[in-house]
Amino acid sequence: MSVSDYSLTDPAVQECPYPFYEAMRREQPVYRMPETGFYIVSRYDDLKEVLRDVDTFSNQFTSARAKAIGAADSPITKMYQTKGWAPVPALQQTDPPVHTRFRRPIDRTFTASRVREMVPYIDGIVSDLIDGFIDNGETDFVESFAVPLPCYVIADQFGVPRSDVPKLKKWSDALMDQIGMMMSPEREQQVADEILEFQTYFDGVFEDRMKNPQDDMLSDVVTVLPGEEALDMNELLSTMSQLLTGGNDTTTGSLAEGMLLLVQHPDQMAKLRADPSFIKNFVEEVLRIESPVQGLMRVTTRDVELGGTVIPKGAVVVVRYASANRDEARFDCPAEFQIDRKDAGAHMAFGAGIHFCPGAMLARQEMISAFSQLLDRLQDVELSVPETELAHFPSMFHRRLKSLPIRFRKA
Ligand code: HEM
Repeated sequence: MSVSDYSLTDPAVQECPYPFYEAMRREQPVYRMPETGFYIVSRYDDLKEVLRDVDTFSNQFTSARAKAIGAADSPITKMYQTKGWAPVPALQQTDPPVHTRFRRPIDRTFTASRVREMVPYIDGIVSDLIDGFIDNGETDFVESFAVPLPCYVIADQFGVPRSDVPKLKKWSDALMDQIGMMMSPEREQQVADEILEFQTYFDGVFEDRMKNPQDDMLSDVVTVLPGEEALDMNELLSTMSQLLTGGNDTTTGSLAEGMLLLVQHPDQMAKLRADPSFIKNFVEEVLRIESPVQGLMRVTTRDVELGGTVIPKGAVVVVRYASANRDEARFDCPAEFQIDRKDAGAHMAFGAGIHFCPGAMLARQEMISAFSQLLDRLQDVELSVPETELAHFPSMFHRRLKSLPIRFRKA
């Protein structure tokens, strides 16, 4: 099939996007989507160039995106303005020097030493979650493990009570649906109402941390050091929405895909059990081959030629990490899952350049802690439904399994 036979807005293509990516890389590496006018960048080298050239490929894409999808004056946008806090471009939606202002407090909080100190704590959550299902011999791995692990970690880092985790999850799902561009009008209204709840809740939490700073992530975010300018509440809430979705859904996706890949490749699972020193490389290979963030946006600040296509000024560009990570010009046999692949870590699942994911170390550690214990404690793991019954949530930008029923023997 050729590239024009596919549409990224088609849920069937979202379910299995890889033949579409391959066709794009082969035929039109910078492909203009006829449905939206977005330009998709699919090859590894081109993507690297886009991510590094922040002057030409700007992250201030929110108004171009809103214009393209007709959301600029929608009643929902007006509702935020009157009842809540109008979302403002923050962090991932900004360029330097504004980006630097948002990024500084985030970098303070995600240090290597903090993540290292968190290892026993993450191991503890992993162990408790496995205790919760191991005696049943079967479980929905998404529900019992891949969702709660990052949710608990992020709730604790935010310093909000575990009893509020279901609310965090609901708000995270609402924010993800808003990015995914696949909502019905009814869901759109529900999402807006839930995001208002989220704003009201975190307005209270931020006000509290400003008055009573604690040793948690949100206190770092509101702390203003000499020479820095404080973020106002609209900016704090927009930052918060990125921390919540970033810290949550993506890691859930990777945990579930990691388990599915092992079940689909018993030889690779046996290899990992035989030599657990492959665990870090295994994590990179999972992120490479099933990238939870399939793509994100940029907007061009001038006419620019890329991969033989002229992209006009003001166009929305989709940086397709998941396609670059399977580019045959960069990775040998890219569709093969090989836990000992030498250059697995060269993937761009966490992006590259100034917007490189600040949570990468934390996400990697959650995956390492998870799979180290899962492989120790579960034997003979297999799917408990036919593979054809597995499905991902519809989204143009993210990839996450809805459920993953498995059965196993307790080791
Ligand atoms: C497997 C898990 C994860 C994946 C695949 C992932 C992926 C990404 C990617 C691709 C970007 C780059 C955005 C760009 O190029 O514009 C990014 C940025 C970001 N991620 Fe992650 N992420 C993960 C986990 C996390 C976690 C655990 C957190 C927070 C706790 C987080 C928070 C963020 C934030 C705040 C940004 C924006 C950074 C900026 O624009 O400077 N992510 N992530």
